[in-house]
Amino acid sequence: MGYPIQRLRRLRQNKNIRRLVTETRLSVEQLVMPYFVRTGKGIKKPIASLPGQFQYSIDELLKELKNVQKLNILAILLFGIPEIKDELARSAYSLTGIIQQAVRAIKDKFPELLVITDVCLCAYFDHGHCGVVKNRKIDNDTTLNILGDVAVSHVEAGADIVAPSAMMDGQVAAIRAVLDSSGFVDLPIMAYSAKYASNFYGPFREAAESPPKFGDRKSYQMNFANNREALREIALDIEEGADIVMVKPALAYLDIICQAREKFSLPIAAYNVSGEYALVKAAGKTGWLDEKSIILEILTAIKRAGADIIISYHAVEVVAEIMRDRQR
Ligand code: PBG
Repeated sequence: MGYPIQRLRRLRQNKNIRRLVTETRLSVEQLVMPYFVRTGKGIKKPIASLPGQFQYSIDELLKELKNVQKLNILAILLFGIPEIKDELARSAYSLTGIIQQAVRAIKDKFPELLVITDVCLCAYFDHGHCGVVKNRKIDNDTTLNILGDVAVSHVEAGADIVAPSAMMDGQVAAIRAVLDSSGFVDLPIMAYSAKYASNFYGPFREAAESPPKFGDRKSYQMNFANNREALREIALDIEEGADIVMVKPALAYLDIICQAREKFSLPIAAYNVSGEYALVKAAGKTGWLDEKSIILEILTAIKRAGADIIISYHAVEVVAEIMRDRQR
C-alpha cells in the first residue's frame, strides 16, 4: 500500500455536513450600512457610480431606515453633504448642520438604532481636503481642534459612536479628550486607523461631493504599499483611546485585517468601500459574475480574515442572502 489518502471530502459530501463544519458565518449583527444625507425634502437622488445607493433628504432617509430596522441591522454610518462648503468647514460643527439635524431626527424615531457618524472635514471645506490648508499644505494640529468640535456636536445631537476618518496624527487623543471634558466619557470612538490613500474611494467622492480641489490625500492617508506602518497606526490609535479600530479598504487589504486580528484584541472593523461595491455592481450588471453569491463570498472573506464589524453598501441587500445561505 502506498501513502494513505487523507479524505477531506468526507466532510463535504452533503449540505448538512458542510453546514456542520462551516468555520465562518456572516451575521446581520456585524453589518453597518452607510448612508449619505443632504438638506431638502423628498430627495432620493441616485448616485451614478454607486448603483442602488442614494443621497437622501432626512425625511426620505427615515423611510429607508424603517426597512433597515425590519432587517435587524443594528448600525448605520452617516455621511453629510452640507449646503455650504467654506474655508472654516463651519457646517461640520454647526448645531443646525446636516448631520446634527439628521442624527436628532433618526434618534427620535429609532432610538435603538446605533448611529455612527463619520468625523471628517473634506465634504465641508471649500478645498475638499480633510484638514485645514495652510500654504497649500494640510496643517495637522489646527485640524485637531476642529475635529474635536465636530465630534462633540455629533454626540450632542445623539450619535452613539464617532468615527474619525481625517487621518490627522493625534486625532483620536484629541477627540477622546474633548469628549471626556464634555461629559461623554462613555462614548465609543471607532477609529479609521489604517486608512489607505486608495483609488477605491472614487465613487464615494461623487456620492459625498468631496473630491479635493487640488492635489491628493497622500500626505495624510497611507501608502497602499505599506504594511508595518498600518500596524503602527493601529497601535497608536489604541494608545490614544480608540475602542474599535478600522482597516480601510477591506478586500485588497485582507492581509492587514488578518495581521491586526493576530496582534490586537480590540474589535476590528473593515470598510468594504465604494469602489469595491462599484466593481461588483458593474460585473453583476453585465452578467459577468453572479452578483449575489459574489457579495456573500466577499463579505465572508472579510470576516474570515478577522473583521468583527463590516461596513458595506451591500449590508441591506445581503441580509436576504445570509438567510438563504443558512439553508444551503
Ligand atoms: C472621508 C471618507 C472617505 C471615505 C470614508 N470617509 C473618502 C476619502 O477619504 O476620500 C471613503 C468611503 C468609501 O469609498 O466608501 N474622508
